[in-house]
Amino acid sequence: MDSQQFRECGKAAIDLLADYVDNIRNRDVLPDVQPGYLLKSLPENAPENPEDWKNVFKDFTDTILPGVTSWQSPRFHAYYPTGTSFPSVIGSLLSDGLGVVGLTWMASPACTELEVVTMNWLGKMLGLPEEFLNCSSGPGGGIIQGSASEATLVGLLVAKNKTIRRLKETNPSLDEDVIKSKLMAYSSDQCNSSVEKAGVLGSMKMRLLKSDSNGRLRGETLKKAFEEDKAQGLIPCYVVANLGTTGTCAFDALDELGPLCQEEKAWLHVDAAYAGSAFICPEYRHLMNGVEYADSFDVNAHKWLLVNFDCSAMWVKNGYDLINAFDVQRIYLDDIKSEIKIPDYRHWQMPLGRRFRALKLWMVMKMYGAEGLRSHIRNHIALAQHFAKLVKKDKRFIIEPEPAMGLVCFRLEGGDNITKQLLDNLNEKKKVFMVAGKYRNRFVIRFVVCSRITTTEDIEFSWNIIKEETDLICTENIHMKPQTIPTIDHLETISLNEKSK
Ligand SMILES: Cc1ncc(COP(=O)(O)O)c(C=O)c1O
Repeated sequence: MDSQQFRECGKAAIDLLADYVDNIRNRDVLPDVQPGYLLKSLPENAPENPEDWKNVFKDFTDTILPGVTSWQSPRFHAYYPTGTSFPSVIGSLLSDGLGVVGLTWMASPACTELEVVTMNWLGKMLGLPEEFLNCSSGPGGGIIQGSASEATLVGLLVAKNKTIRRLKETNPSLDEDVIKSKLMAYSSDQCNSSVEKAGVLGSMKMRLLKSDSNGRLRGETLKKAFEEDKAQGLIPCYVVANLGTTGTCAFDALDELGPLCQEEKAWLHVDAAYAGSAFICPEYRHLMNGVEYADSFDVNAHKWLLVNFDCSAMWVKNGYDLINAFDVQRIYLDDIKSEIKIPDYRHWQMPLGRRFRALKLWMVMKMYGAEGLRSHIRNHIALAQHFAKLVKKDKRFIIEPEPAMGLVCFRLEGGDNITKQLLDNLNEKKKVFMVAGKYRNRFVIRFVVCSRITTTEDIEFSWNIIKEETDLICTENIHMKPQTIPTIDHLETISLNEKSK
């Protein structure tokens, strides 16, 4: 492809994407394909000779696009949002077009410095304590990691290194391997799978402590765990507090956990992957009370801040902790010495290479402005509340727990089995997409407002589909013979329906 073809093809790609977004409501949210559909339809070997871009585009629209889930559809209510916006796509395109890798400052000065600037901007927008910012007088700063999973693992590895160094400082004869075998990590039983995985990858035993009846990890639970472990000669090292759990968007009691971690010298990492974005709105900042105790804080701009994956914004209070843990020098990585405080980001992350991810974050912050991003967050929360209102009006449903941010969890009064049946039926029909959660051991359906373009009409469209499927299920269950009804749950539903007749 020469530059002329690139111009033509690039313009066609932008047109295709603009059309895709404009017409996204006409597509089913889940694709109508079976496992292996693409494996069977594409050739087994790569083409020997170049193909014309128009043919390649045709392949894309005919075979690949039909197997794509419409994550940006207003009918997509699964997981949590994954951000995208036109400014972000342009930022990604420019980054790819420049094709730079920011190994060092010298390798591409703008790549490093724009990351410093955007992380300062975002940190201030979120109301993080000054110490986390590169523009403060201390050693803190922000970095864009690839994912919240990476940020949690980076935190764990740094905590491990720091604890070992601290213990060896007071007693140099201690065996490093023995210390490692005693280090303990903690989070709540509601933490994201990536938190537990960080323990596995970082070879640190992790206890997932019981959350309270609202899904929150409380101070007294952590205190008890510390005491039990210390009594066995174990060493508390790393705590992950969750602000906005994946299941039900619960907020751990950070202000209770913080002082305990400080006392124990355990590294406190905050996983605010989804809900953290809401802290750009001052009215939600009380949910991060205690953040001043944290050593690291992470929020996925690629979830709720309209920036495309991957853009996980992580701040640390002390960049030297990362450098001490990860600094490995080579002569070819020698950099310019600077009077100005500029982070050597390669020591703050796992890979050596780093993409120009700050460009898409910068584009989004410039083209939306802080106010534009705040109204996006507030709009999603208002839409979730509108959905909750619709559900509450229908006596067949129970909303539990109370909706938080853009998430509403609900279930049918009739019980777990019928709620699961409803979810399965809805996903099978592919018009809306939601996933399951658990709350107080009950099966719930998670409804998340995800798409940037969602309107009140979209929410009502999704609700009507849910309501119609519920009507169908309830009618079917009434017509089942009692011996074919496997659970009490179904019986409850029938009596409910009969009452409503
Ligand atoms: C609370 C929480 N933490 C971590 C993650 C993992 O994020 P990532 O895919 O960026 O690793 C998620 C993903 O949904 C999440 O909800």
